[in-house]
Amino acid sequence: MDLVLVGLPGSGKSAVGRRLASRHHATFVDLDELVERSVGKSVPAIFADEGEAGFRRHEHDAVLSLGPADQDPELRRVIATGGGTVIDPRNRWLLYRGRFPVWLDGAPEVLASRLGKSTSVRPLIVGRDPLVTLQTLAEGRRRFYAPALRISGLTRVDDIMRAVEGGLGDGPSQTVTVLRAETAIGHVEIGYGIAANAVSAALTRGAATRAILLSEPGAWEVAGSGIAVALAAEGWPVERIILPRGENAKRLHVVEDACRALARLHVDRKETLVAIGGGALTDVSGFIAATYLRGVAVIHVPTTLVGQVDAALGGKTAVDIPEGKNLVGAFHQPAAFIADVSFNATLPVRQRRAALGEVVKMAVLGDERLLELVEEDGEAYAGGDAAPIESGAVAEMVERCAWAKVEVVTADAREANVRMTLNLGHTIGHGVEAAAGFKSILHGEAVAYGLRGAFAVAQAMGLTSDARADRVNRLLDRLGLAVEPPAVTREAVVDRMASDKKHATGVLNWVLPTDSGVVVRSDVPPAAVEAGLTAALRISPKDTGRTDRAGTEAGVP
Ligand SMILES: NC(=O)c1ccc[n+]([C@@H]2O[C@H](COP(=O)([O-])OP(=O)(O)OC[C@H]3O[C@@H](n4cnc5c(N)ncnc54)[C@H](O)[C@@H]3O)[C@@H](O)[C@H]2O)c1
Repeated sequence: MDLVLVGLPGSGKSAVGRRLASRHHATFVDLDELVERSVGKSVPAIFADEGEAGFRRHEHDAVLSLGPADQDPELRRVIATGGGTVIDPRNRWLLYRGRFPVWLDGAPEVLASRLGKSTSVRPLIVGRDPLVTLQTLAEGRRRFYAPALRISGLTRVDDIMRAVEGGLGDGPSQTVTVLRAETAIGHVEIGYGIAANAVSAALTRGAATRAILLSEPGAWEVAGSGIAVALAAEGWPVERIILPRGENAKRLHVVEDACRALARLHVDRKETLVAIGGGALTDVSGFIAATYLRGVAVIHVPTTLVGQVDAALGGKTAVDIPEGKNLVGAFHQPAAFIADVSFNATLPVRQRRAALGEVVKMAVLGDERLLELVEEDGEAYAGGDAAPIESGAVAEMVERCAWAKVEVVTADAREANVRMTLNLGHTIGHGVEAAAGFKSILHGEAVAYGLRGAFAVAQAMGLTSDARADRVNRLLDRLGLAVEPPAVTREAVVDRMASDKKHATGVLNWVLPTDSGVVVRSDVPPAAVEAGLTAALRISPKDTGRTDRAGTEAGVP
């Protein structure tokens, strides 16, 4: 087995690692030394010549050079990482999966005084106030270290070593947690094969006495039943309530049936529900949790990519009524969001593809790395390939989207300002989805039409470059998103946009892409709206050039 030591600079990873390795006759690997040997320069020299980005590239190569995790239950290798190695989601995937990660969590005050006496140069600390720098680093990196076994409050190497040895488990595991965080909008945990353990831990944190699972037939088969068996094996009494599949669960009569089932189970206000399923299931379960007994806690376990990158996080819950989708709902933040990317393996191709529409949207909001990631791995994932799940690419997509959402929602839970930017692609996209009666077009597919439209509007207004728009349009082409004209009329889309505008008290706020993010504008001229509709609805050039209700009703505030 490989043991991986993570923690801030000065936390003793090298000192503890060397001693541990020698005591267990294991090999000691210091990642910084590995980088220095392969590049032929010291770490400070690499920082000076190539900057932090250059160093991180070499560091990632060093992680890759470790090869597969050792499967022997005996301790074979002790790997000391650099303080920032595990910022990179892929490094975490590689270092934590099948290995035993340990977080040496020293107090910044102790580390600062230790670094003050050390002779080694730490490029991220040098020239700065060590304590303030370490406190900032600790805050920013806690979620990356937290999946590891945490050893805190110890300063002597011997004590730390004993604590690490005491925590050595039963050998390597193929499950991996890549991110764990306590946030203002609930506990967030992302990984592979983690669902049952993470749910059990979340129930324990909530002082639950039983597990009340809400699911639907599709998610139950691939995820819920396995979680139920594992929870029962751990001793949890398990209750289950199965709601209708997909969007059919988002109905008020389903809410009533589920609440009656909860009442028959005598579920009280201190209990916690566990919602296992796609976005539809977590939307309705969240609404049930928000309203049953005026609010009980809920743990969301999204089983679709839409749920993992978007729906299950952020506290928006809703059901549909005949007059419209999501018209009845509440804000209710989950106690925990547990995204287990292994559930992606059974997702149908259309679901995967549509979810990538949302992922591209999140990338366009300002995450360049996410855009590259979808360019590299999106097609394979959309095509049903398992490789992007196995390589950690999907976990990275989920992490990037989920964390961006945590930050936006923490700043603006009720969509008063910055959360509005998440509606990129929704102005025309929602018009398309509504015109299709929310039936033949999936939400992510509609967002893709809307994204094409938003880029055309932004180009017409000079907000984004042709190169940026071409790049995103080409990506959507490759993903097979919004390629054919949608099965809706242009008039119907314009009608729905006009009706959205009325609901928005007469002002349509367009979220429009720039070359590095988005701006919100309500002064979109009719000609730009026309260009957006033409691009979104894939109208051929011969049909363009008309000015009608799109410009006069939807576009002008
Ligand atoms: N609350 C929000 O912020 C928010 C954001 C985006 C979308 N949504 C909502 O999410 C819903 C769409 O969610 P969705 O795309 O996840 O669809 P969904 O929940 O309707 O699930 C789609 C289908 O996938 C099946 N399924 C679920 N997990 C599976 C798995 N692991 N393998 C195979 N099949 C599986 C389900 O049985 C269902 O048939 C919409 O109702 C939308 O309004 C909400």
